[in-house]
Amino acid sequence: MTASIQGTRLVPVDELGPSGVTVVKDTPHGDLAVGLSNGAPFAVSNRCRHVFAPLGKGTVDAAGHLVCPWHHAEFDVRSGEMTLGPQGVFKPIAGPIKATLGSRELKTYQVELRDGAIYLIG
Ligand code: FES
Repeated sequence: MTASIQGTRLVPVDELGPSGVTVVKDTPHGDLAVGLSNGAPFAVSNRCRHVFAPLGKGTVDAAGHLVCPWHHAEFDVRSGEMTLGPQGVFKPIAGPIKATLGSRELKTYQVELRDGAIYLIG
């Protein structure tokens, strides 16, 4: 990660791997989950709204949602909204969890794709 007048270089796209997302530590906004969703770069706060899994260790699914690595809640990376509550053992209460813990959106940050890397801007 390097800072310049054109923003902070977060991660080269070819380092994202098949998950489409990674954790970038110690940015000006703390640790972020940074990746590509439907070909567009994103950066959001790294902690899941459920029980704080590192979202950068999750995956981006075919629809472009960020999927939590622990219980597979899904997030819209543009709005930060939880679009699906936790699954697995939490599935029976996924709706109430989404309505309570998930009602606070992830923080979203402005980024751009440049020279094969994702930059934090603004
Ligand atoms: S910690 Fe993310 S869904 Fe449970």
